[in-house]
Amino acid sequence: MRLTRPDRDPPPSTVDAAVDAAGDADLADPMVYADGDPHAVWYRLRRTDPVSWRRTGDRPGYWSVTRYADVDRVLRDHRSFTSTRGTFLNVLGRPDPASGRQLAATDPPRHTVMRSPLQQALSIRSTADQEAVIRKQVRAVLVPAAHSGWMDVAALMTGLPVAVLGTVMGLPEADWPQLTRLAMMAVAPHEPRWQLPKGPDATLQRAHRALFAYFQDQAHDRAGNPGSDLMSALLGLQVDGHADPGAVVANCYSLMVGAATWPHAATVALVELAASGRYAQWAARPDLLDPLVEEAFRWASPANHFLRHTTTAVELGGVGLPAGAPVVVWLGSANRDEAVFADPYTFDPTRWPNRHLAFGSGPHNCLGAPLARRMIRVVFEEVFALVADLAPAGEPSHLASNFVAGYGCAPVTVEVRESALAKAGRDG
Ligand code: HEM
Repeated sequence: MRLTRPDRDPPPSTVDAAVDAAGDADLADPMVYADGDPHAVWYRLRRTDPVSWRRTGDRPGYWSVTRYADVDRVLRDHRSFTSTRGTFLNVLGRPDPASGRQLAATDPPRHTVMRSPLQQALSIRSTADQEAVIRKQVRAVLVPAAHSGWMDVAALMTGLPVAVLGTVMGLPEADWPQLTRLAMMAVAPHEPRWQLPKGPDATLQRAHRALFAYFQDQAHDRAGNPGSDLMSALLGLQVDGHADPGAVVANCYSLMVGAATWPHAATVALVELAASGRYAQWAARPDLLDPLVEEAFRWASPANHFLRHTTTAVELGGVGLPAGAPVVVWLGSANRDEAVFADPYTFDPTRWPNRHLAFGSGPHNCLGAPLARRMIRVVFEEVFALVADLAPAGEPSHLASNFVAGYGCAPVTVEVRESALAKAGRDG
């Protein structure tokens, strides 16, 4: 059995069986997320080994952190846990070329200076226009699916991140399909749907090179002609008192990767509502949208892990860590911590307050959170308006990625609201 997203709180005997079966799975291995059960591993680690040394394939090991309180501490305490040596498992044991240049790979005070202009460009007010864009995009994919009576929710959402970010950054619409493909190759290079024949490493490198080259061109075209979009805010970034074109491109890449995560929260929540037979009930309760949105982020935890390195010998959860050690926090685990969430394996759209860590915490807390919250609301509003009921039409498949938690494919049958469909047809 799987404890994996999505599932209800299973009885203790089946939990033990799943946890035993999960054994010591390598949480850095993307295939654990596609075929295995990370939740069973985290469940065991939270109970028996919350801060523990983990080995991973042929790469160096790392300290794994699974409890909410310890995850929160690592993310907040930038003096003891630095971001400057990279924030993703894929740089483990290698120097991170983005160090000190990409916002996410800096520490305060440099980080504070770099973050401010981007925060402004991504504030709720400056992103208000994106709502109309995303509504149009959602309708464009949803209406044909509603006509057919069937859809793959994961495929439906795939193009949305680039549509949103492309608008915020002022990127030409004709480029969006190619950017979507490259972004997915970058965040899920092991996923069969996105992987190139030469394998995951070649897929990642190709995506990396192509995205960097693309953003270099965009930055070059835009230099000297700034607007009010996010790309212009990036072009104004100063690193050590001067402009750094490399930093502009590295931050564009980071934004693209960050943005790729948000629709997975919508997909995972919709699939969970369909699987539990509660879709129609929640679709009829627009007044419960706020808690539903937050529970979707907790439940899906679309950004799965972040990496830090200790700057000094430090104690965490009663365990002594040496200086210079890699530390990985698992947000998906923190968001199922029974010490913080009542009944954590139950998807509860009325859960409130919901202190999830899906957007991180501390100085690096997600810059795109206001945008992601706004967009997921739009998705729910549009789907609920058009679709009366959803039911599973096969087993969903999980993405082969240790970073983005979500589905690669999630087929459902659709019972449409005929009047809403007719109106959508009239509105064009
Ligand atoms: C469901 C959607 C999203 C989730 C779950 C998510 C999650 C996160 C998390 C956990 C962090 C903290 C990283 C750390 O501590 O090292 C983060 C940072 C960041 N996110 Fe997001 N994110 C989402 C959407 C977005 C979007 C839409 C954008 C851009 C438009 C974005 C841009 C960023 C950036 C630039 C940072 C780095 C902030 C900093 O270092 O100060 N994210 N995100």
